[in-house]
Amino acid sequence: MKKLFCIVVSLLAVQIVFAQITVPIPATLEGSIFNLKVQKGTSEIFPGQRTNTIGYNGAQLGPTLILQKGETVTINVDNQLDDTTTVHWHGLHLSPANDGGPHTPIMAGNTWSPSFKVMDQASTYWYHPHLHRKTLNQVVKGASGFIIVRDPAEASLNLPRTYGVDDVPLVFQWKTFDESKQIVEMDEVDNEVLVNGVLKGATLNLPAQVVRLRLLNGSSHRYFNFGFSNNLEFKQIAGDGGLLDAPVAMTKLILAPGERAEVLLDLSKSLGQKLLLQHFGTELPMGYPGGMMMMMMGGTENMMGPLDDTDFDLMQIQVLAPTPNAIGSIPPALITNTPLSSNGAFNRDLTMTARPQMSMTNFFLNESKFEMNTINFKVSKGAAEVWTLTNQTMMAHPFHLHGNSFWVISVNNRKPAANLLGRKDVITVPPINGAVKIVVRYDDFSDSVTPYMYHCHILSHEDNGMMGQFLVAPLLSGTHDNLSKEKLK
Ligand code: C2O
Ligand code: CU
Ligand code: CU
Repeated sequence: MKKLFCIVVSLLAVQIVFAQITVPIPATLEGSIFNLKVQKGTSEIFPGQRTNTIGYNGAQLGPTLILQKGETVTINVDNQLDDTTTVHWHGLHLSPANDGGPHTPIMAGNTWSPSFKVMDQASTYWYHPHLHRKTLNQVVKGASGFIIVRDPAEASLNLPRTYGVDDVPLVFQWKTFDESKQIVEMDEVDNEVLVNGVLKGATLNLPAQVVRLRLLNGSSHRYFNFGFSNNLEFKQIAGDGGLLDAPVAMTKLILAPGERAEVLLDLSKSLGQKLLLQHFGTELPMGYPGGMMMMMMGGTENMMGPLDDTDFDLMQIQVLAPTPNAIGSIPPALITNTPLSSNGAFNRDLTMTARPQMSMTNFFLNESKFEMNTINFKVSKGAAEVWTLTNQTMMAHPFHLHGNSFWVISVNNRKPAANLLGRKDVITVPPINGAVKIVVRYDDFSDSVTPYMYHCHILSHEDNGMMGQFLVAPLLSGTHDNLSKEKLK
């Protein structure tokens, strides 16, 4: 009898597992006033089990904020946690005081209401907590959401833009769960992947036409190498901070933690078919967490999770009937980007190091760790700077800059791949003496009190001090302050 009961129960469980779980689409918020409530909740990520999570206006993740370039918005962030938090608008160009970094804490029970003009180009951005030493903790528990900026240039192009129908935001997150299915902060042994907050392998229904997927690697630690079944070609149209000049055809796309890409997929001939979106971990270069790890060094054993070096399915795509406003073909050209010139730019060097040299956890930027009260340097307002990012460690680090997009000049002394030629705010610095050059210019928002951050977007590295901060200062007779450190008042 007991046995029979068990069989019935396990059959039921199997059915639940194989029942078609659909990939949820986050709700949207639009207008000029946005209300976000950061709250605790529980989510049924595993059938019949409650996982403690954090979300905005819900148990995990958050609504997609739709912003129009040129408009002024106010976002009220009500902290209902019993812990301090911050909310950072990752990728947006706004003042340091509105940026939501570690210097703008929202105490439990308080509301923070930044108000700013949307200055960014149409693209996909995101928001997440950024409290020093607590970023990993709050992000892995589920706190993050999308921001979509729209602008006239993007609106004039024949692109899919019906949210949730042919224009779908997808956040991919490696996570670690303990035996009671609670999210564990240590992210070195990831044992699951979530897509929009549900276990990988769920189904997304898409119409048989050109569709746009807004991909975000929202992981704390690991890379994704995306591709479709049958090696289906797709086209990237936007990077972190805006559209590319023209769609870039590809069959694989690597995204670092924090990085976004908008891709178009032509499903017009796929009606009734099932496709798979997959992760090709075995094809990731050495030293990219999520694929092969370096063999030789000590301390790797804690990096080896059950999902290392494997390929797996992220999501099934079920192709249904096209919609009446279907986009028939992919436009050959998009916008004209004018990258910043690096002529006469000030040169700044940032070097990533590890101690000991083989360490996979203890990282430094210019041999120092982040300190809340230390300004690492000042950037002159209105003056272009070329930053040379050098990585002397054994693993890849995704470098992120606050408050501005930058342009990538070179990766390992070579011209960057075509899909990296638009506005970026996250760029991977390859391991073992990899080098990336970027050019950036801060044209507004000088502030003598609140700094902008730059850091590795691997959240455990960031929390452990692989971060720095700078002030944007008025240009003082052409001089730049590169080396001197200053205490914050
Ligand atoms: Cu998405 Cu400073 O981070
Ligand atoms: Cu950011
Ligand atoms: Cu790092």
